[in-house]
Parts: sequence; C-alpha cells; structure tokens
Amino acid sequence: MSNLRIAVQKSGRLNEDSMRILKDIGISIDNGKDQLKAAARDFPVEVFYLRNGDIPQYLKDGVVDAAIIGENVLIEKGNDIQFVERLGFSKCKVSIAVPKESNASSLKDLAGKRIATSYPETVKKFLVEQNIDAQLHKINGSVEIAPNIGLADGICDIVSSGSTLFKNGLKEIEVLLKSEAVLAVSPQINAERKAILEKIQFRIQSVLKGRN
Ligand code: PRP
Ligand code: MG
Repeated sequence: MSNLRIAVQKSGRLNEDSMRILKDIGISIDNGKDQLKAAARDFPVEVFYLRNGDIPQYLKDGVVDAAIIGENVLIEKGNDIQFVERLGFSKCKVSIAVPKESNASSLKDLAGKRIATSYPETVKKFLVEQNIDAQLHKINGSVEIAPNIGLADGICDIVSSGSTLFKNGLKEIEVLLKSEAVLAVSPQINAERKAILEKIQFRIQSVLKGRN
C-alpha cells in the first residue's frame, strides 16, 4: 500500500499547530533533527517538511498529495490548488496598512503610490479588480519597516495580533482577505491516497469538533 505524502511547514508559525493536529488524530512521527521527511509509525503517511512558499508548486506537480498550509499562501501562489478542510488555527488577515499619520483610508487612496509586500500577486489581484494603478515592491520579510525607511507609502502583509503594525507606527486601513490553516490537496492525487486523505479528514473533523 502506498503512503499519503503530506507537506507541513518546516519552521514558522504553522509548524507547531500542524504537528499538534497530526498528533491529535493519531499520527505520531519520530522526527530526527534536520530530517526533512518522516514516516508515521502507525498510519500510511509520510510527512515532508517544506518551506511554505514551495508547497503550492509541490501540490500542483503531485510531489506531495496534501498539505497543511495557510490559505493566504495558496491564494498568493495561485495554481488553483483546492482545500478540503479549514483547520481553525493560524488565523490572520492580509491587510493594507499605512503610517498612522497618513490620510489614506483604503487601497484606492494608494493609487499612484508605492506598496511594499510579500504578497504581490494578492495585492495585484485587488488592484486590478478595483482598477487602481500602484507600484508594487516585493520584500520577503520585515515588510512593516518599508514606510519608515522611505521605501513605500503603504504595505500589504499578514496581520495577526497587530503588534508588528503598532510597533512600526502603522495602521490597518483595509483587510484584503482573512486566512487560516487549511488541508490542501494535490490535483494529481490518486484514488488510493485519496482514500487515506479522506480518513485523515474524517479524524480531523472529529478533533476540531472536540476543540470547539
Ligand atoms: C509576520 C508577518 C507580520 C507579523 C504579523 O512576520 O509578516 O509581519 O508576523 O503578526 P502580528 O500581527 O502578530 O504582529 P514574521 O514575524 O513572521 O517575520 P517576517 O515578516 O520577517 O517573515
Ligand atoms: Mg513580518
């Protein structure tokens, strides 16, 4: 019988909760340090530890069959990857923010201005929809510093507690989307592995019900 290959975030905000939900559904993993792939002890599952941003492409190519990933990453990377379950953790917003003294109060007010973001495709989608012309600067991290160093007039990034915005003198002016961790599935998954995924999904639903 073949194993279901499931990707989780290697390190970062989703990792701990992802490993916890796998454990809660009875999938225990002996993960040696720095091991990027590990088999579950008592379930036909292999866990791959990957970088967030790489996961959508691996799903698309069928390198992994499923993944625990932020919905916002799926949206940013496109590829029409579907998810089968919302997992109720890692809830966040993807928002537009500006310096607190700025008069801008929506994305529209950033027309002709510079926006720094790690989510250029997401922002582009909203700019196109609203017929706004703005300049996008892609930054991979610490986006909130951009207005302070004169690199941008506004930013688009993840907001969770809001503390990073606050500490950098920024205010949220528009929420583009809300996100949480989801169980995503590869369009290439075969029937045998789909059956394993359905079992996992069923167990996840029971665990999530118990958590509410
Ligand atoms: C993330 C995100 C925001 C912040 C949001 O950054 O990019 O900056 O967390 O969380 P908060 O609203 O609770 O402050 P992270 O700390 O992961 O670092 P990075 O942007 O440098 O990757
Ligand atoms: Mg950040």
